[in-house]
Amino acid sequence: MNIDFLKSNITTIINQSEKTESKLQEICNFLKQEISHYDWVGFYFKNGDKEELKLAQYAGEATEHTIIPFGKGICGQVAISNKNFIVQDVTEQDNYISCGWKVKSEIVIPIFKNQENIGQIDIDSHTQNTFTDLDTELLEFVCEQVAEIV
Ligand code: SME
Repeated sequence: MNIDFLKSNITTIINQSEKTESKLQEICNFLKQEISHYDWVGFYFKNGDKEELKLAQYAGEATEHTIIPFGKGICGQVAISNKNFIVQDVTEQDNYISCGWKVKSEIVIPIFKNQENIGQIDIDSHTQNTFTDLDTELLEFVCEQVAEIV
């Protein structure tokens, strides 16, 4: 993974004069296209005043999990814990919402704006044990950049 190339392209997307929604969609498309172990890339954000996440932009197969209550699944747990969550083997997780049998691992990184957890980026992979510190570094960078435009 060429992290400098990826970060520089993310910055370019963020700085374009487009709507936020278009930028988030481009980020999803870009990450899914460039990184072979990213099979689904999406953003969830807190749904208004509700204790739930709502799916925003994504790249990959459509999912029925467009609303996720806080505490449910990997995403819902991150909404409460405010911490990165890397699952190298989803079969080992009891509190997990499956988006299809092909998904083997998942990484979720929270997005903070003014110290508040407002959403997250969620990546599914069809490969087990695939996420490393580089993914965390890249996705934390993406989340920091996204916090500037939402
Ligand atoms: N697997 C997630 C649900 C969202 S899908 O991956 C798109 C979870 O357990 O929260």
